[in-house]
Amino acid sequence: MSFYVLKSLCLSGSLMAVRLSFRNITALAPMVRVGTLPMRLLALDYGADLVYCEELIDIKMAQCQRVVNEVLDTVDFVAPDERVMFRTCEREKERVVFQMGTADPDRALIVAKLVEKDVAAIDVNMGCPKEYSTKGGMGAALLSDPDKIVAILRMLVTGVSIPVTCKIRILPTVEETVSLVRRIEETGVAAVAVHGRLRDERPRHPLHCDFIRAVAEAVSVPIIANGGSLDLVKTHADIEEFRRRTGTSSVMLARAAMWNASVFSSSGPFPLERVMEDYLKYAIRYENHAFNTKYCLCQMLRDKVESPQGKLLQAAQTHADISAAFGLQQFFLQTEDQLQQKRSRLQSGCPPDALLMDGDVCTMAVKFLRREYPPHISPKMFLLEWSRKEKLQQPLYEMVQRSQDRAFQSTVTFAGQKYRSSLWEKSKKFAEQAASVVCLRVLGIPEGRIGEGESDLVCKRKRDGTTNGTTEEERSSKRHSGESQLETETLNVNGDHDNADTPPERR
Ligand SMILES: Cc1cc2nc3c(=O)[nH]c(=O)nc-3n(C[C@H](O)[C@H](O)[C@H](O)COP(=O)(O)O)c2cc1C
Repeated sequence: MSFYVLKSLCLSGSLMAVRLSFRNITALAPMVRVGTLPMRLLALDYGADLVYCEELIDIKMAQCQRVVNEVLDTVDFVAPDERVMFRTCEREKERVVFQMGTADPDRALIVAKLVEKDVAAIDVNMGCPKEYSTKGGMGAALLSDPDKIVAILRMLVTGVSIPVTCKIRILPTVEETVSLVRRIEETGVAAVAVHGRLRDERPRHPLHCDFIRAVAEAVSVPIIANGGSLDLVKTHADIEEFRRRTGTSSVMLARAAMWNASVFSSSGPFPLERVMEDYLKYAIRYENHAFNTKYCLCQMLRDKVESPQGKLLQAAQTHADISAAFGLQQFFLQTEDQLQQKRSRLQSGCPPDALLMDGDVCTMAVKFLRREYPPHISPKMFLLEWSRKEKLQQPLYEMVQRSQDRAFQSTVTFAGQKYRSSLWEKSKKFAEQAASVVCLRVLGIPEGRIGEGESDLVCKRKRDGTTNGTTEEERSSKRHSGESQLETETLNVNGDHDNADTPPERR
């Protein structure tokens, strides 16, 4: 199904707003715990036109602060207890519908205004039969208070510049349902999603496609058919039949998408393994809450949740554990590294090479990247050679390890001054190399990087490699400082440097 936007122009002719069309679309339905950012991005990748977020309660959202997260490139709505209630990003800005639970027009408007600039549309949940929603007069409780529905929707339609929609369940008769939707239509909403079940019906009960069809025929506002996941829509091909049976041009899928989001793809379905992997990558990239990631993956595994992989997943506590269960450790570590580097750079507020004093220590945000140096050459080796050439005391390295992620940071003392990188490394060896780089850069001494130009610090024989399988640095370390083999970088003597950027502990 094609997705298109209508660009509405203001009188002066300049672009005022990009308005969504709710006709001919296939949407990811709102789902508590499931409809967080990774799932929404996944659904968009596979071809969903619109993605609804999970229902977020107005009282909680109204307390949130909008925070631009420069590390993740997201906009976060953060609660007073620091919890991220809603995370979104540029990629979904024109496609994400923010669903709220509300029973109060004023509060609804406060929340809508809070998120208005970051989402494509606002939706009000009028279909949730769960007690936590209905006891506050929200969700399906609104269905028995049409005046309240109208008050909330009018307030939103007039108060925000983006489209407003709502999602309802059907009422006991077709006439009552049509009459309610007619009142809703008069408020100026852009669409109404109709879950074709009564308030007290469970998802396993048959869907009333005839109710949805009757509503779609009676009104001109776009109707989005919902509720077909179990019996009617199993694959992408079934979506067309669902449209035909309900007489609507738009449909919304919840469970079918939760089980395998590639239901949105015309070339799908894709194997679950691939879908779960794609999902997990987004979860890691956007630092989704690990328990939420675990919950969603368990939903996808369904009856395979007791498989060996399912058991590993159930035991997992962190994204590191979950990644291990899915063979994505490498991706996890690399992504974590990249985010950590960015975080440190942003925290220091400086470009990577800016020199900062931390007490009496010279620091720079430097990461040691093995690929930037020829085989057999390292900054630590260069620093050692410099100390010899200048007849100075050899560099002395001190190591610390932090508890939360067991990362290392080394401080090198050279010529009476201390140097360290403000970035933490995954191995002791790399931490020492990073400290050496800082020292060499501050002192303006060559560090041996590829493209740096020839230096007489390390002779050509050493630049080309060693003849006895031992690097100069290692020999020197053994000769001078008695440093243990473990603490000293062991370059790959077979000339195989494919994994050279990976700290040895992780290979
Ligand atoms: C895990 C889960 C969470 C849900 N959370 C919400 C929600 O936050 N808001 C809402 O309007 N409906 C919610 N629903 C209902 C779905 O949006 C949808 O109306 C229902 O599942 C029927 O559609 P389906 O047959 O495609 O699953 C949820 C459903 C599921 C399975």
